[in-house]
Amino acid sequence: MANVAVVGAQWGDEGKGKIVDWLSSRADVVVRFQGGHNAGHTLVINGVEYKLSLLPSGVVRASKLSVIGNGVVFDPWAFLREVEAIRAKGVTVTPENLIVAENVALILPIHSAVDKAREEARGASKIGTTGRGIGPAYEDKVARRAIRLCDLTDEAALADKVEQLLFHHNAVLRGLGSPEVTAAELLEPLKEIAPKILPFAGVVWKTLDEMRRAGKRILFEGAQGAMLDVDHGTYPYVTSSNTVAGNAATGSGMGPRAVGYVLGICKAYTTRVGSGPFPTEDLTEVGELIGQRGREFGTVTGRKRRCGWFDAVLVRQAIKTGGIDGIALTKLDVLDGLDAIKVCIGYRLDGKEIDHLPANAAEQARVEPIYETFEGWGESTQGARTWAELPAQAVKYVRHIEELIQAPVALLSTSPERDDTILMHDPFAD
Ligand code: IMP
Repeated sequence: MANVAVVGAQWGDEGKGKIVDWLSSRADVVVRFQGGHNAGHTLVINGVEYKLSLLPSGVVRASKLSVIGNGVVFDPWAFLREVEAIRAKGVTVTPENLIVAENVALILPIHSAVDKAREEARGASKIGTTGRGIGPAYEDKVARRAIRLCDLTDEAALADKVEQLLFHHNAVLRGLGSPEVTAAELLEPLKEIAPKILPFAGVVWKTLDEMRRAGKRILFEGAQGAMLDVDHGTYPYVTSSNTVAGNAATGSGMGPRAVGYVLGICKAYTTRVGSGPFPTEDLTEVGELIGQRGREFGTVTGRKRRCGWFDAVLVRQAIKTGGIDGIALTKLDVLDGLDAIKVCIGYRLDGKEIDHLPANAAEQARVEPIYETFEGWGESTQGARTWAELPAQAVKYVRHIEELIQAPVALLSTSPERDDTILMHDPFAD
C-alpha cells in the first residue's frame, strides 16, 4: 500500500484543497512537510466551510492524526488562531490528534516585519510574498540561529538564543536605519505562548515510523507548487522551501522510500500570484474571462491571480523534477464553451526553440510560448463523474495533455463538489 504525496505542479492554487480532502478522508495520517501559513485552502465538509493555512487538511476529521513536520516554518500565534477557529466550528483538536515536530523552526513577529520591509525596499522588483515571514524564518533556520519549538522548554537557554538572533537582526535594522528590537520584545510573547503550544510538540519522526510500520496510510500534503520551489522554480520569484515531493521525506523525518505515489495537481490552464515570469500569461479578455470563471482570487491574501493558458512544458518539467507519477487535472469546466484553447508545447528563446524553462531569470522572462491551438467544446463538462459524460473534444484535450506532459491523468475534477471527480487511478492502491 502506497503512502501518497500531493504536490502542486504549477505555481500553487491548483485546487489541491478538494483533492487533498478526498485523499485525507482515506488516509490515517496527514502530514504538512514544508511552507507555513502562506498556504491556504478552503474545505467544505457536510456543508461546513473550513479555511486552513498552516494546519494539515486532516485536522477537520477528528479520527485522523494531523502532523506538522520539521520542514514547516511554524508561527505559534497563527497556529493557535487557526486551532481556535476550527474548534469554534465544533471540530475536536487536541494534542492527541495534532502533533507539531519539536524541531520545527518558529516564525517570530520580527520575521513578518522583515519580510514586509524588504518587499517595500525592493520596489518594482518585489517578489510579491504573502508577507507572513516565511523567507526570513527559513533564512534563520539555515543560518542556524532559529528558535525552534523545543527551545521554548528552557527559559534561560531561550534568552541566549534570542540574544544571538537579535545580534544578527539588529545589525541589519541598524544598517537600514530602522528601530532595533529588544530581547524582551521577543522573549515575553514567546514565554506567554509556550505553555499553550508545547503540549502539541512531539517526536514526529518516531510517530511516523510507528504509523508506517503499523501499515497506516500516510498522506503528505504539499503547499504552493513546483514552479515556486526554491531550487526548481522561477528563482528568485519563488517561496523559500522545496515544494517538490522529494522534500516530503526530509520535511517529516522519514527516508526517501516513505512516499510510494506522487500525485501532482494542475489546472487545465495556468495561474500565478505575485511577481515573476509567466510565459503563457494572457492579458486579453480571455485571461480575464478565465479568471472570473475560475474565481481566481487568493485564499490567503485575496489578491487577483494572473491567468493564462496551459503550459505543457512547465508541467512536464514539474513532473520530471518532482517525480510525479500521475496528475489530478482540475477546473476543466472553466474552459467550457471557448471556441479555441491554446496549449504551450515549447518555447522560443532568442530565435531558438527549446523544450524546457531555463534556470536563468532573465531568460525565463524572455521565453516566448509556442502554442498549439485546440478546438474547444460547446457542451458543459461541469459535474461529470464518468468519461462517458464528457464531450468527445474534452476527452481529446485531456488525452493530448497526457502525451505532452508524459504522465497519466489519474484524477479529473469537474467542479468544486467533492463527488464531481472522475477517478482513473487510485493513488493509494499502488
Ligand atoms: P512567500 O512564500 O510568502 O515568501 O511568497 C513567495 C512567493 O510564493 C510569492 O509569489 C507568493 O505569492 C507565492 N506563494 C506563497 N504561498 C503560496 C500559495 O499557497 N499559493 C500560491 N502562491 C503562493
